[in-house]
Amino acid sequence: MRISIVGLGYVGLVTSAGLSEWGHDVVGIEASPSRLDSLRAGRMPFFEPALDEMVQRHTQNGRFRFVGSEDAEDDLVASDIVMVAVGTHDGKGGWETATATAALTRIVPAMADDAVLVVRSTLPPDFVASLPDLVHELRRQHGKMAIPILLNPEFTREGRAVRDFLHPDRVVLGVIDDPEEVGVGRLQDVYVAAEAPIVVLPGVAATLSKLGANLFLATKISFVNELAVLCDRYGADVDEVVSAMAFDARIGGAFLRAGVGFGGSCLPHQVTMTVRTAVEEGLHLPLLTAVDEVNHRQRARFVDLVMESVDGIESPRVALLGLTFKPDTDDLRDAPALTIAEELLRRGAAVRAYDPMSSAARRAAEFIPGLEIAGSAAEAVDGVHAIGLVTEWPEFSALDWNGLHELAAGTTVVDGRNALSPTAVTQAGFAYRAFGRGSLDAVAAVPVDGEATVPIRIESEVQPRSHDRGTSTRRAADADLRQPA
Ligand code: UGA
Repeated sequence: MRISIVGLGYVGLVTSAGLSEWGHDVVGIEASPSRLDSLRAGRMPFFEPALDEMVQRHTQNGRFRFVGSEDAEDDLVASDIVMVAVGTHDGKGGWETATATAALTRIVPAMADDAVLVVRSTLPPDFVASLPDLVHELRRQHGKMAIPILLNPEFTREGRAVRDFLHPDRVVLGVIDDPEEVGVGRLQDVYVAAEAPIVVLPGVAATLSKLGANLFLATKISFVNELAVLCDRYGADVDEVVSAMAFDARIGGAFLRAGVGFGGSCLPHQVTMTVRTAVEEGLHLPLLTAVDEVNHRQRARFVDLVMESVDGIESPRVALLGLTFKPDTDDLRDAPALTIAEELLRRGAAVRAYDPMSSAARRAAEFIPGLEIAGSAAEAVDGVHAIGLVTEWPEFSALDWNGLHELAAGTTVVDGRNALSPTAVTQAGFAYRAFGRGSLDAVAAVPVDGEATVPIRIESEVQPRSHDRGTSTRRAADADLRQPA
């Protein structure tokens, strides 16, 4: 099939490469000349595992080409399917539908009468409901026949997007206007290759199923962060608590990792945009409002933990490990580390950060005046009074904490992702602070023939019941907790 994809951002580029992989002839249409130049020179505009080689393979075998928006007319005319994958949020917590409207105004009149229009961007329900009027009016003005309009939301995660595209849990097709079912049939043919359930819904329900999935994931994260508060209060370990809850198939264990909360370009914005739009429309969404509040509180709590650990030091120096909003990406959009670094600087700390993705670290330094960037974790930690882990890059789980303790001037590690081994950290001589893991003091010395003990301080005066584990001590070996998936 001949497929044009409009917009070569995260969603458009992954979709293009994936469709080429399934044997389709794909044309990527991009408005930004610099992004086009970079793609033509074989450089990906962002880091995404496995995407680079897939794009290269299919540009070389001719299945995937790039064209500028101004030169796309012939390709649009020749396409069986045109997919729109342009950005739809303003970066400040609001929807931005002007780009999608402008793209549709350019594309729709050029499409063949037997082509299918597919919207892949995440859009607000109102906008989806207005699409038939917008598209049919554009066709009418240019003397063209009506075309089928479908929504095909994406569910890919950054860092795993190629795999998520090729092997999705489900494919959702939203029918916005498709009286003859030509559009649904054509997309079903395309997605046969995914070997996944295909759910066909009305357009507005499809967009709500996309938003609903992200809102639910965000809710799970804020829920576990609230559970972590209870764990700290009563002296339980949140990972142990979740591991027991996860056996209940209705609950499951995914997306229940406590820490500094969710960042990125999707979850935070979609929660904020949903709440903001609801308020404008007079709806009351207390749960989602709280999800947002809890998420912001986590970043503030992390800063408090770091600042408490350097209390009394005149010019505190802090190392931040990780800047991207999660591992395996170079994306800094709404990354918790940026908010945290800004706030630490505002509160008078000097902040030196290290991220394995050096391009992201350089960009972070441009965004945040005063943020120092280090070339390694050891360089970041050298001479600092506190260490904060914000992104759980795998290399941080393998850090030599004994070596770092010799370099650092202070003795506290704040683990913002519950990703480190409390045993390794405390046995190296650091105090360990996290979210829902209690407060662990440094272990003074490990007995030659005995097992080290890690004292746990409970963050309240309330004593746990006698059968609770972790009332006063815990075997160090037990403190090695589940690493995040
Ligand atoms: C999210 C969804 O997971 C995708 O399904 C969706 O397709 C995508 O948004 C989108 O709308 O395009 P993504 O933004 O790539 O994907 O990132 P996630 O993997 O969802 O992680 C979001 C944030 O939550 C990260 O900062 C992560 O560290 C945090 N997180 C995740 C937690 O704090 N705890 C967890 O248990 C899981």
